[in-house]
Amino acid sequence: MGLASDLKILYHLALKPVRGKDHAARMESFYAGQAEAYDDFRKRLLKGRQELWNLIQAPEGGTWIDLGGGTGANLDYFGERLGKLSKVYILDLSHSLLEIAKKRIAAKSWTNVETVEADATTFQPAGGPVDVVTFSYSLTMIPDWFAAIENALAMLRPDGVIGVVDFYVSRKYPTDGLARHGWPTRTFWPTWFAMDNVFPSPDHVPYLHKRFDVLHFEEHKAKVPYVPFLRMPYYLFVGRKRT
Ligand SMILES: C[S@@+](CC[C@H](N)C(=O)[O-])C[C@H]1O[C@@H](n2cnc3c(N)ncnc32)[C@H](O)[C@@H]1O
Repeated sequence: MGLASDLKILYHLALKPVRGKDHAARMESFYAGQAEAYDDFRKRLLKGRQELWNLIQAPEGGTWIDLGGGTGANLDYFGERLGKLSKVYILDLSHSLLEIAKKRIAAKSWTNVETVEADATTFQPAGGPVDVVTFSYSLTMIPDWFAAIENALAMLRPDGVIGVVDFYVSRKYPTDGLARHGWPTRTFWPTWFAMDNVFPSPDHVPYLHKRFDVLHFEEHKAKVPYVPFLRMPYYLFVGRKRT
């Protein structure tokens, strides 16, 4: 993957209009033309995914659902732990990204991984509650993110674990102990990312803290490919469903 691949991705990120009558159609319109080149570019853009996966235990015989899991790139972050789980679901609305995930699953002969084309705000696994739910850079792309978090809570077993890694901006006056971003950060990044229907929010982090017992939380800033000098805030959150 080189400059030509990056240019294609940048065209989709910055220029190609996103069309569609509903959210699912808009996701597919955005991702269809960039599915093949997705993983290479996002490896440089979406930081902290391996770190999040390292923070979460894979319970022996347990189930894990990655909501908005796209190409299944996060499957590589499980390492040996993948074999301990009885089932891993990669759920996404984008058919094109799930096709890449299917190829990955077939190439690695993973028998305990399944793709699900569905909406993270409504899907419930037929097999009952799951042990772990993750969102990696998907919460900012789900317009009804309240519904996505509530649905994640509904699909988790008591004491089940949620892991989230994503872009965000702080509130103007965040709770003590949380990072405070200045006006340029709080204004620039939401405006920039909105072009691609990505909505870094000041409310995701407070809402996760409100709804779950916090096991781990960290805040960082990452470089964005081809955007010199600026740093985009992102966070890692691990929480437990209250019983
Ligand atoms: C930035 S991508 C991240 C993909 C993957 N988690 C990763 O880390 O590479 C966001 C993903 O969320 C998916 N998505 C957005 N809204 C969704 C929804 N309501 N239900 C399921 N997936 C959704 C998109 O199709 C896309 O694959």
